[in-house]
Amino acid sequence: MSYQREYERRLEVGIIGAGSHCYRNILPLMTYLPVHIAAICDVNGDLAAKTAAQYGCRSYISSSEMYDNEKLDGVFISVGPQFHPALVLEAFSHDVNVWVEKPIAVHSCQVEEMIAARKNLIAVVGLKKAFSPACSKMEEIVDHFGGFDSILGIYPMSLVNDSELPNWLRNGVHPLSFMMQIGGKVHSVRSVINRKGKGDVILQFENGSIGTLHLATGPKPDFEMYEIYGDGWRARVDESEVSLDRGIPFDYKYTTDYIPSGYDFGRISWKPGNCVATLENKSLFTQGFYNEAMYFCQCVLDKQQPVKGTLEFALEIMKVYEAAFRSEGEEVIV
Ligand SMILES: NC(=O)c1ccc[n+]([C@@H]2O[C@H](COP(=O)([O-])OP(=O)(O)OC[C@H]3O[C@@H](n4cnc5c(N)ncnc54)[C@H](O)[C@@H]3O)[C@@H](O)[C@H]2O)c1
Repeated sequence: MSYQREYERRLEVGIIGAGSHCYRNILPLMTYLPVHIAAICDVNGDLAAKTAAQYGCRSYISSSEMYDNEKLDGVFISVGPQFHPALVLEAFSHDVNVWVEKPIAVHSCQVEEMIAARKNLIAVVGLKKAFSPACSKMEEIVDHFGGFDSILGIYPMSLVNDSELPNWLRNGVHPLSFMMQIGGKVHSVRSVINRKGKGDVILQFENGSIGTLHLATGPKPDFEMYEIYGDGWRARVDESEVSLDRGIPFDYKYTTDYIPSGYDFGRISWKPGNCVATLENKSLFTQGFYNEAMYFCQCVLDKQQPVKGTLEFALEIMKVYEAAFRSEGEEVIV
């Protein structure tokens, strides 16, 4: 890890979309990346100009004008799923590598068009949960035990198809990317919901394990929880806290001690501290933003195709998202 001002090699990048999320998260993230921000583009000219002035770069109100005037290695696109497909295709047509926020599109066929137009360019999708340190630890745990049987995710949202950008599109991508990063490809989907769109989306993974995504109500701000179960162990992510429960040597009739000696049994947990002004406890790091954006930069610098956060992975997620809408209690093959 290093800081923007310390990197010897930096990518020339443009930022497309200077709205709320970009200003709050994407631009602050640049401090930790090997980039030089050449330009900020937003159709809201006032927003683009003010933000570009703050970051000492040029501003544009149209991405095509930006491409005409800048020589860019990559763009960070954070606009919205209705606009992402056209903006991604435009970047590809100018031979510019792309990092694009979730949701990548409104329909899965739009992601297929992106894949067809990508050529040998690099595209990484902002699926932060799949890049979060908690998810990586879960992957390590699953690898260690040689697989898992079931995964439970709990996330506040509803499965109601009530607009072009339903809640399930905007938020479903978060727990789905976490669960599918762990479980891999999904064979079939079944959704069982009540009239408010609350309930469960059941994922049958191709590897034979099963996932239940519970679409919850609950307190604000939003929260998340994941539990993974395997033979003799259980791992849990409760917000940023990760724990692994390995149980104890146990004989139903004869065990008398719940704390066996040694360190190979029982529960271990990891949790970010909140005492010192360091990086590992900041949301840009705990939620996976840094990992996903740094991964994109590293792929571009190394001219290496990504294997994580790919358009193909985003397409799988979009297909599961669409299958859950179609399901209405029936099993839908993805
Ligand atoms: N990963 C996360 O945790 C997270 C959190 C919040 C938002 N997001 C995502 O970030 C994206 C942006 O969300 P937001 O809340 O910042 O929205 P926003 O509406 O505040 O910002 C979008 C900006 O894009 C601009 N814009 C629209 N069309 C454009 C175009 N063709 N070219 C350039 N600029 C254009 C708008 O003027 C606006 O300023 C969405 O996809 C959202 O889902 C992700």
